[in-house]
Amino acid sequence: MNYHITLIEGDGIGPEVMGSALEILDAAGVDIRWDKAIAGQEAVDKFGETVPEETINSIKKTKVAFKGPVTTPIGKGFRSANVSLRQKLNLNACMRPVANLPGITTRHQNVDLVVVRENSEGLYSGLEHQVVKGVVASLKVISRSACNAIGQFAFDYCRNHGRRKVTAVHKAAVMKKSDGLFLEEIRKIAKKNPFIEYDELAIDSLSMQLVMEPSKFDVLVMGNLYGDIISDLASGLVGGLGVVPGANIGKDYAVFEPVHGSAPDLAGKGLANPLAAVLSGVLMLEYLGEHAAGDRIRDAVYKVLEDGKIRTADLGGKSSTNEFTRAIIEIL
Ligand code: NAI
Repeated sequence: MNYHITLIEGDGIGPEVMGSALEILDAAGVDIRWDKAIAGQEAVDKFGETVPEETINSIKKTKVAFKGPVTTPIGKGFRSANVSLRQKLNLNACMRPVANLPGITTRHQNVDLVVVRENSEGLYSGLEHQVVKGVVASLKVISRSACNAIGQFAFDYCRNHGRRKVTAVHKAAVMKKSDGLFLEEIRKIAKKNPFIEYDELAIDSLSMQLVMEPSKFDVLVMGNLYGDIISDLASGLVGGLGVVPGANIGKDYAVFEPVHGSAPDLAGKGLANPLAAVLSGVLMLEYLGEHAAGDRIRDAVYKVLEDGKIRTADLGGKSSTNEFTRAIIEIL
């Protein structure tokens, strides 16, 4: 089958890691026609906004986008491209599977969890205002419908991927109304899924338990800000930002992207780890139903990692982005 997919290479290390992922997808024999689009600083320079209409229209046409990291212009009144994309396309769920990889030794073994993050509201709604001089307020918007949708996504994901437990993460003891509403909705869905184990944990308690005993967690569902922080924390348990893939999924569209940012400190040096981008490509293949090609890429990546001779600096090696890419393609 052939596919038409929107490609946003991003900036910083974006073009390097995405270039690697595209070569690998191609080597796995998946026929994809890319519709190139832009976001972030490049889009601000050309169109005066982080996500131009052209980019949104492209994704509305192709339904699926493969996206690299983009730098967020700070404090100039521009919306983060990521937040904008998620809101404009109703990508309400962000899913990040975090698992130990072969050959990468970290302090923890048997980590195999999934962070499911509400993507469209909460403290990232962008509603900030000055109350009086020297005092600002940032609104945390929580709606019943978004809580219900993210809960549904988490339980569906759990069931469809053979997982057993969902943990709802919150701070309802303090934010009684907002996190309270979140829990209320998740509990309703838990009741409808009696065969999936369910529990609840405060965000501070989860943070401590995650660094002490991460292997006991399965699917974690939470609001926007908590999810942003916990996905980075969790990636640190298995080798860092360079190895964790991500997906933003809504009812009609999906955008697949690595968890990491544009890493300005590494950009242009050819040293970035393309693994997170490659594994995001695998998540995209699975979403498209191309499981065989996805498995082929995953197997090739695992072989290279297990072998241990070729790895990038973030994983303690000396190889370049290109050497790592070539090693995977050789196996494919
Ligand atoms: P970052 O993820 O770009 O970098 C944090 C650290 O991780 C740096 O030391 C970097 O070198 C390292 N790192 C990241 N990706 C790596 C890779 N593939 N291989 C090896 N090392 C890697 O986070 P930072 O510095 O906070 O953000 C930089 C820019 O990226 C900001 O403008 C931020 O807004 C943006 N960003 C964009 C995201 C996206 O487009 N999805 C996500 C996160 C940040």
